[in-house]
Amino acid sequence: MSMVNGFTSDDASRLSEAERRLIERRERLLGPAYRLFYERPLHTVRGEGVWLFDEQGRRFLDAYNNVASIGHCHPRVVEAMYRQSQQLNTHTRYLQEGILDYAEQLLDTFPANLDRVMFTCTGSEANDLALRIAKQYTGGTGVIITRFAYHGVTGDIAELSPSLGPGIVLPAHVRTVRAPDAYRLGAENVASTFAADVRAAIDDLKAHGIRPAAILLDGIFSSDGVLPGPEGFLAEGVALAQAEGMLYIADEVQSGFARTGLNMWGFTRHNVRPDIVTLGKPMGNGQPIAGIVGRADVVDHFGKNMRYFNTFGGNPVSCAAGQAVLDVIQEEQLQQRSHDIGGYLLAGLTALAQRHEMIGDVRGAGMFLGVELVTDRATKNPAAGDARKVVNLMREQGVLISAAGPLENVLKIRPLLAFTQEHAKMLIEAVDVALQGVY
Ligand SMILES: Cc1ncc(COP(=O)(O)O)c(C=O)c1O
Repeated sequence: MSMVNGFTSDDASRLSEAERRLIERRERLLGPAYRLFYERPLHTVRGEGVWLFDEQGRRFLDAYNNVASIGHCHPRVVEAMYRQSQQLNTHTRYLQEGILDYAEQLLDTFPANLDRVMFTCTGSEANDLALRIAKQYTGGTGVIITRFAYHGVTGDIAELSPSLGPGIVLPAHVRTVRAPDAYRLGAENVASTFAADVRAAIDDLKAHGIRPAAILLDGIFSSDGVLPGPEGFLAEGVALAQAEGMLYIADEVQSGFARTGLNMWGFTRHNVRPDIVTLGKPMGNGQPIAGIVGRADVVDHFGKNMRYFNTFGGNPVSCAAGQAVLDVIQEEQLQQRSHDIGGYLLAGLTALAQRHEMIGDVRGAGMFLGVELVTDRATKNPAAGDARKVVNLMREQGVLISAAGPLENVLKIRPLLAFTQEHAKMLIEAVDVALQGVY
């Protein structure tokens, strides 16, 4: 995954002795694969609502969190987990009602043809399971993804995540298509480009004797640069893949649970019918719960041939957390809020573009927004270094965002759904001030 906003040892001289010691200890114990955000890494000790607090008690507005999505330490989730932890926590090989109540509540949020759910602990596992199911069902192995996709960390899924870095070599059964970059392709060309790329990918798989199995797509194309794409653009390409017998796996790990606005699920924007949907991140507001939702015939085909057991997947405490999250989304009307505050942010950030030449494009769906920075609007030359500077200047102001995309020049803004207009205003002002600081 791109770490535009990663701490490097070059930044260490600016840190206190205590911070340096903590980083050294981390590197000694955890090794080099882990990354820290920000030039001055944040030492977090507490979270509450939209705020994170550091060890000195300074608060930071969290506009970069799609896990504790409904608010840090939301009392409803904490209470539900506490209650269930006191009573029982086991696995799915005993009869229990909690998992079934949650499954029903979750499935109610999906189209009727998606009527089975299986639980995992992480989004990576969910994608891994979805891929296994698709391979079983289709008898194929060929997979289509976008060029700078991220889908997770298991062996099979890391190979479908080119954004992890140059160490990822795409296997022979994988083809890539262009992400819906309306800014660079032109909005009117996005759907046709996508469909043409899918057609070419399928033809090429077949030409190499590889039977296509699945098209796996992030609902907001987050690692590709936060690219919601025009509504409906997916329909033609996905229909084409499904007509070839491929399964469409909608990766909703980022775009699910009200993130993209009025719709609970990102794919709803596109008039498509996924065969499998994968879920994760905000599902338990921090409790590790994830899973797949799919068509009964697809999921049952897999289950008839082999059994499935995931020790922690779907445990009672995780299901209690998941249920509380769904309750809160409904009771606090977070889909509406995601739409309203997301719209307010989109308008506010778009207005900033009138004063900051560096802003080439502002885009988003609900509370997931991208601001693309360029050195020249005519050539769209990416301002990668400046994106990193903006993110770090904002961190110094006490507002947390990050940066993403293959060109490393997109501000990635993903506030907690608990944001009010007042928080959104603070965020816009912080972007404004940081952009002024870059010139
Ligand atoms: C689109 C997408 N899919 C899958 C994953 C993997 O989820 P996890 O980190 O829970 O394994 C991520 C994580 O960032 C993601 O962004």
